[in-house]
Amino acid sequence: MTTQETVAVGSAHEASGHAGGRQKMNIVVIGHVDHGKSTLIGRLLADTGSLPQGKLESVRAQCLRNARPFEYAFLLDALKDEQAQGITIDSARCFFKSASRDYIIIDAPGHVEFLRNMISGAARAEAALLVIDAKEGVQENSRRHGCLLGLLGVRQVAVCVNKMDLVGYDKGVFDTIVAEYSDFLRQVRIEPAGFIPIAAMEGVNIVARGGQVPWYHGPSVLERVDSFQKEPPELGKPLRLPVQDVYKFTEAGDERRIIAGRIETGSVEVGDEVVFLPSLKRSTVASIEEFHGSAPPRAEAGLSTGLTLSTQVYVRPGELLCKVGQEPAKVASKLRASILWLGRAPMIQGKRYKLKLGSARVPVWLTAIHSVLDAGTLNREVGRQQVERHDVADCVLETLKPIACDAAADIPATGRFVIIDNYEIAGGGIILDAMTDENSLIDRHVAQRERAWDRSAITPNLRASRYNQRATLVLITGPTGAGKARLAKALEERLFDRGKAVYYLGLSNALGGEAGLKDSAERDEFLRRIGEVAHLMIDAGLILIAAVSDLDDEELKLIRALNSPGELLIINVGETRLSRTESDLELASALEVEAGLASLEQLLQSRNFLPEYYL
Ligand code: GTP
Ligand code: MG
Repeated sequence: MTTQETVAVGSAHEASGHAGGRQKMNIVVIGHVDHGKSTLIGRLLADTGSLPQGKLESVRAQCLRNARPFEYAFLLDALKDEQAQGITIDSARCFFKSASRDYIIIDAPGHVEFLRNMISGAARAEAALLVIDAKEGVQENSRRHGCLLGLLGVRQVAVCVNKMDLVGYDKGVFDTIVAEYSDFLRQVRIEPAGFIPIAAMEGVNIVARGGQVPWYHGPSVLERVDSFQKEPPELGKPLRLPVQDVYKFTEAGDERRIIAGRIETGSVEVGDEVVFLPSLKRSTVASIEEFHGSAPPRAEAGLSTGLTLSTQVYVRPGELLCKVGQEPAKVASKLRASILWLGRAPMIQGKRYKLKLGSARVPVWLTAIHSVLDAGTLNREVGRQQVERHDVADCVLETLKPIACDAAADIPATGRFVIIDNYEIAGGGIILDAMTDENSLIDRHVAQRERAWDRSAITPNLRASRYNQRATLVLITGPTGAGKARLAKALEERLFDRGKAVYYLGLSNALGGEAGLKDSAERDEFLRRIGEVAHLMIDAGLILIAAVSDLDDEELKLIRALNSPGELLIINVGETRLSRTESDLELASALEVEAGLASLEQLLQSRNFLPEYYL
């Protein structure tokens, strides 16, 4: 798609509210192509005296030299060059000041870019100015953008009916647009904060109220913007801290870890009892570590921080830290969601995408489409098989393992997500609700797989008596570097020497090391493959041995489910990450290979996988 328009967006990067004593607010200016967004912004900058000294004159002079008419929109381009440095998203920001506060506006390069920034949270707007050309009236993107504001929960919206000069400042034209568009906005659950008749080019009703519209008694654009409420930091809400990273202290012998992330809502204090979701691991906050070495007793929403805990718990990036005693986040593998799709290719069922929610990155599938809203026309369709570009779909997303989140209506920061297709943001949306995990994606898959499996006359029992063994998956876990793979291979050799049909699954090696931990979406995919491969080989009557580092409860559950009805023995070597599952065998170390082998053989024997007498 060509980017037909420029959209300006308020930035998230300075969302802290107060800085240098003055309040800051992020504003998005949106609307259909050519309806006058840039002109409005240029005017706001010029008429509030927010431009650098001499900027207006120099741009005017340049236009004169090039014999082209001056446009206020040119001011934005001129500023872009100056402001381009140090900007993290690919748009230029600009600022204007009123008597009461500072405003931040971004001029984004285009429609899809703008939507991506909005949906990924790169550009969080607290309020919006929606521009509609009086002569052209309400157009497709006027509706589309309104719809997006509704989806993202931007509730403070003022509508600027621009180019009133072109319709002779006619009240009738204005009233028609007001009626049509407020009707539309209500459908997307936005109560407009007023309509303002303006002529951005002439500066009518931008800062001062203009005499050209004697029939209008409301505020100017600047007055309206100044009346928008600042969103308070979300201190009153329960604590949500998505774990971004886990750092180990570097000094030898120091076993402490720093849990790092941004506090999205609520606050945390030293001594607070906290719980990580979805793992349910609990501990108490021992200290709050700031980058400059200070150790404050308390940290609150909006702050990126690091915590140490009083006990050692193993958690991975992607978990959500909550406070015990407060409303916990939801934990589910099935989510009812509203998605805006931006991908070139439609979103389809059965395809694996990547979900980014909070700090979690996991594989995700679209498993049901309840209805699809055409954002341009607001028609709602049911029975659709896929989600096309620009559609807003009410649908069901499913993950392999439960993830922690909130309904966006409760906590937007942990209720908003992005969907990646092919390394690109292809869509995003909000969680409407977490659904029960009954009959999960994996349960359905396994049931369907078993139904569809075409079996021969050779039963598992026949295979067992032929090989003189009962098939099972022997899954060895523990920290990286514990010697699990060596033990696994030694077991394979030992059983092979005893005439058993045995196989060591080397696929699991790809999971080891720190690299394996970084992208949890890839790790999940490997675990899924191990589960599927195990199911196949155990069905073929083999004893399959695999070693996977740092397996946690949900991961084990996933492999167990995929492997079913096959059997599984879980062996833990050294420190464990399993907190809710008992292992079948605990080994203090894998380095004593002979001792380990003896315990393993004894386990297999006692559970009747290796009959006492064999040929
Ligand atoms: P894109 O970024 O391309 O989507 O456009 P935009 O919405 O930023 O519109 P822009 O401000 O560039 O204005 C488009 C055209 O409308 C320009 O030629 C402006 O001069 C003209 N225009 C803007 N405001 C007014 C107005 O109040 N009256 C009249 N007559 N023309 C205007
Ligand atoms: Mg523009």
